[in-house]
Amino acid sequence: MEPYQRRNRHFEDLVARRGLIWMGQNTNHLPTHPDVKRAMIAAIEDEDYHAYAPPTGLEELRRLILADFGVDDADVLITDGAIEGLYHACRHLIRPGQRMIATDPGWPWPEAFSRLSGAEVVALPIYRPEQDYKLSAEQLAGAVEEGGAGLIYLIDPLNPLGVGYSADEIAAFARIAREADAWLIHDCTYRHFAHDHTLAYRLYPEKTITTYSFSKWLGLAGLRVGGLMARPALIEMLSEGQPNSLGSNLVSQKGAIAGLRTKGEWFPEVNRIQRANQASIHDAVAPINGLDMPVYPSNGNFVVIDTGAAGIAPETLCELYLERGIMIRQAAYQSKLFADRFVKVSTTVPTEDADRFCEMLPDVVRAALDGIGRNRALY
Ligand SMILES: Cc1ncc(COP(=O)(O)O)c(C=O)c1O
Repeated sequence: MEPYQRRNRHFEDLVARRGLIWMGQNTNHLPTHPDVKRAMIAAIEDEDYHAYAPPTGLEELRRLILADFGVDDADVLITDGAIEGLYHACRHLIRPGQRMIATDPGWPWPEAFSRLSGAEVVALPIYRPEQDYKLSAEQLAGAVEEGGAGLIYLIDPLNPLGVGYSADEIAAFARIAREADAWLIHDCTYRHFAHDHTLAYRLYPEKTITTYSFSKWLGLAGLRVGGLMARPALIEMLSEGQPNSLGSNLVSQKGAIAGLRTKGEWFPEVNRIQRANQASIHDAVAPINGLDMPVYPSNGNFVVIDTGAAGIAPETLCELYLERGIMIRQAAYQSKLFADRFVKVSTTVPTEDADRFCEMLPDVVRAALDGIGRNRALY
């Protein structure tokens, strides 16, 4: 089997597994508002899908996204999930030989897309307590000074660590990007879960592209709808050679519209539940020797558990949880430099599912320690 076939088989098995608790992809698994389902069912019943959607996306959806951002001088390009917008931006905006600056840990795909464009990817190490597990302005400025930057990719809040950036930090990043005349992609996929959030677009509107996702707060990951927000002139430029120039899924767009219309009614409760789940996980991790939660509370709908001091390989923890019906993610997916240090656990699941994760933790850690022949006190 080729590696891609193995990867696919792995995910095929996961999606076929009834009752699996999904705590590895940061998608919302809490029940969907009935209006969202009704809108999508109506679109199917009415057979809306015979026509292509408008190439930039349904106007109401674009208006609602702008309103959700609280921005009125930009526009939105609807894409097949934020990832397709990222692909397009990374292929369109960077030239061979330019540098793309990202972080390690981070989220790997925009780096892969930039490499396809011939860019040199520089992933700055940030898994360090002395810099609060986040990118610092000095670090970014140093990297830009050293070799320039064509594109800066900033994930905020950061998947996987859950750190977010203050207004001052965003202002510093925007200043550095402007001085370098670099594109700034502000990946705001997890913005809805943040305790506080500042849009770089407001400070550097001319070259900032902001992502929007419906996979996380609304939980439409399998329906592939998202967007890019930028100045209209930049959207015009991105509309050239746009991969989804035949429009995005109409059914998904109607579900997304209903989600945005009703968000105020139900989303605060989702965030309350996921933050309470974070707290339960924190309480379960704290007494266990060798485990630690470096960032708490998290600004995302996920937390990271450091397993380094326990000497437990993240993969082992993931396998043991999967055997017990819970999917979590190993660091290697999101880090080259710190791949042996942590697992990521998503928190937008029902309280009882997060509680099961917590109840299993001592057993899973014990089994992992037994597996490497370590016989030491758990607490
Ligand atoms: C940082 C980041 N950006 C983008 C995405 C993809 O979003 P979408 O599902 O809207 O394509 C993810 C999904 O995990 C993500 O973590």
